Amino acid sequence: MCGIIAYVGDKPCAQLLIDGLRKLEYRGYDSAGVAVHDGTQLVVRRAAGKLQSLQDLLIAEPIAGTTGIGHTRWATHGPPSERNAHPHVSGRVAVVHNGIIENHVELKQELEAKGRVFASDTDTEIVAHLVELALGTGASLLEAVRQTLRQLRGAYAIAVLSREDPEKIIVARHASPLVLALADGAVLAASDVPAILAHTREVLFLEDNELAVLSRDGAHIETVDGVKVERAATTIRWSLVQAERGGYKHFMLKEIHEQPRAIEDTLRGRIQLEHARCVADELGVPETTAKAIRRVVLLACGTSFHAAMYGRYLIESIAKIPAVVDLASEFRYRDPVICEGDLVIAVSQSGETADTLAALKEAQRQGANVLGVVNVQGSAIARISNGVLYTHAGPEIGVASTKCFTAQLAAMALVAIHLGRTRGSLSEERASVLIHELVKIPEKMRAALEQDAHIQQIARDLVSSHNALFLGRGVSCPVALEGALKLKEISYVHAEGYAGGEMKHGPLALVDKSLPVVCLLPDDPTLEKMLSNVQEVRARDGQVLAIVNDENTAKSLAKWTIVVPKTEPELSPLITTIPMQLLSYHVADQRGTDVDQPRNLAKTVTVE
Ligand code: G6P
Repeated sequence: MCGIIAYVGDKPCAQLLIDGLRKLEYRGYDSAGVAVHDGTQLVVRRAAGKLQSLQDLLIAEPIAGTTGIGHTRWATHGPPSERNAHPHVSGRVAVVHNGIIENHVELKQELEAKGRVFASDTDTEIVAHLVELALGTGASLLEAVRQTLRQLRGAYAIAVLSREDPEKIIVARHASPLVLALADGAVLAASDVPAILAHTREVLFLEDNELAVLSRDGAHIETVDGVKVERAATTIRWSLVQAERGGYKHFMLKEIHEQPRAIEDTLRGRIQLEHARCVADELGVPETTAKAIRRVVLLACGTSFHAAMYGRYLIESIAKIPAVVDLASEFRYRDPVICEGDLVIAVSQSGETADTLAALKEAQRQGANVLGVVNVQGSAIARISNGVLYTHAGPEIGVASTKCFTAQLAAMALVAIHLGRTRGSLSEERASVLIHELVKIPEKMRAALEQDAHIQQIARDLVSSHNALFLGRGVSCPVALEGALKLKEISYVHAEGYAGGEMKHGPLALVDKSLPVVCLLPDDPTLEKMLSNVQEVRARDGQVLAIVNDENTAKSLAKWTIVVPKTEPELSPLITTIPMQLLSYHVADQRGTDVDQPRNLAKTVTVE
C-alpha cells in the first residue's frame, strides 16, 4: 500500500519528506520518490528499493525548497522500478497517488490519441497528464484537479504539485485514506497518522470525494463539486506504534479488518455488472486460452493451498472444467503429468515461495500455460508466469495470512466466472447473480467483522483447550482447513481441519467433552449433512461452535453460535473465513503468543 506525504511550510522539506515516509515504511513499499519546488522548478528524485537509496541520492544531489510531495510505492500497475516510482511528472505537474484508477486503460488510450507520451507503466501517470492538459486550457490548479477527478473511477488519494504554484499543494481522496495536519508554520498531508506525528497531533481526516488546497495559511477543504467543507480537528492520542497499526493491537487484527477493502480493490475494474462478465484483460487468461483449456491444475502452499482448493471447487462447479489441486511441495516430487490444454494456476501471496516457484517451472518445462495469482507485483512467480492476476490486498505484515487469503478467494471466483462465461458453461443469469453478489461481499464482510467482540468472548472459553477440530463440507471444507491452520499457526493449539464426510473415518474418535468442534454451517446444499455431523459430535459430548447464517440453524446443538450474513453458496467462504480468523486471533492473543510473528514461521518461505 503506497504512502503519501505532502508539505507546505517554512522549512526545507526534502529531508522532512523522507522522515515522514520512514514512518510509513510499515505499509510496505518497493520504491520511493520526492518532488520539491525549489523556487523556480520542480525537482524530482526517485529510487527503486528502500528509502535509504533515495536518501543517498538526496545526499549526493540535494534539493532546496519548502513545498514538496513524497511517496513510497507498493507496485500495482507495472513492476517496481525507478521509472514506475512516484512522483510522476507531466510538463509542469508532479503527482503522487495511492490506490487504483479503474478506468486507466480507457483514459490512457484517450491521452495517447491526444499525443501524450507515457514514461511509466503506472495508472498514476494518467493523473499527471490530465491535470497538465487542463492547465493548458487556462484552468487554475484547483480547477484542473477538479476536472481530472471527475474523469477518474476507482480509488485514489493524490497530492498534486505544480511549477506555477510554488506554495500550494492540492490533495484529494476517494476510497484511499488521507489525513491533513496543521502544524506550526506548515500544513501536511499523509496517507496515515504516523507520518505527521513528529509535527503535530492535531489532524483532519479528508473524506471521500473531498479535496483540500494546502498552503502556509492552512487547509481549505471542499467537495469535488466545489462545496466548502468545515471540518474540526481531531487530537491523536495514539503512540507511534499504535498509529502504525491503525490503533489495532496487532497487524493481524488490522489486516483482518482491512478485508472488505482488499476485496473491493481485488474486484475493482474487473467486472462488468451490466454484461455479467469479467474483464478478460485484467485476469491473465485471454479468451482464446480460456476456450482451449481441458483441465486446470492448481498449485500452492500453506494458506494459498486452501484458496487453491476453493478455486478447484469453483472452476468445476461454475466453469465446468475438470480441476485438480496439488501441494506445490509435493507436485515436483511425483512424476506429474501435464497434458495439452492444461492451465496451471500458481497461487501465492508473496510470489516467492520456493516450492510453488519450482512446481510452476516444472509445469512450464512440460509445456503448461501458467497463470500466477499473486499479491506482490514483480515477484518471481509474477515474472515467469504466462499470465498474472494480481490480488490487490496490499502488503500483509502479519505472518499468518488473512486479507491475502480472502483476496485469493475473490480472485478464484473471478477466474471461475470468467472461464464459465467465456466457454458458455455459465449462463448469463447465474453469472449476473454471482457477480452482483460478489460486489456485495465487502459489505457482508463488514457485518461479519461486527461479531469481533462476541468472538473475543467465545475465545475466553476456548483459551485453555489443547485441541480443536474444524469441520466443513463442499466449499466450506477449505475454510475448515484454513481455520485449523490459522489456530495452530498463531496460538500453537493443536487443530485439525476435516471434511465433514470424513468424521466417521477417524476424527470422531477424538471427540469428548473437552474437544471444541468448529462447524461451518452456511445455508447451502450440504447443510443437512453437516447438521448430521453436528449431531454425531453432540452425541459424544463434543462442544460445538456453529458458524451459521440463521441463529436457529443449530440452536439446540451448539454451545456457541456465530451468525454471519448469507450469500450465494459458492461465495460463502469469503464470509465464513472471518469468524475463523477472529477466533484464532483472540485465542492466540489471550494465550499471549506473538501473534504477528509466530515462533518458527516465516512470511515468505524462499527455501525448501
Ligand atoms: C508461509 C506463510 C503462509 C503462506 C505460505 C505460502 O508459510 O507463513 O502464510 O500461506 O507461506 O506462501 P505464499 O506466499 O506462496 O502464499
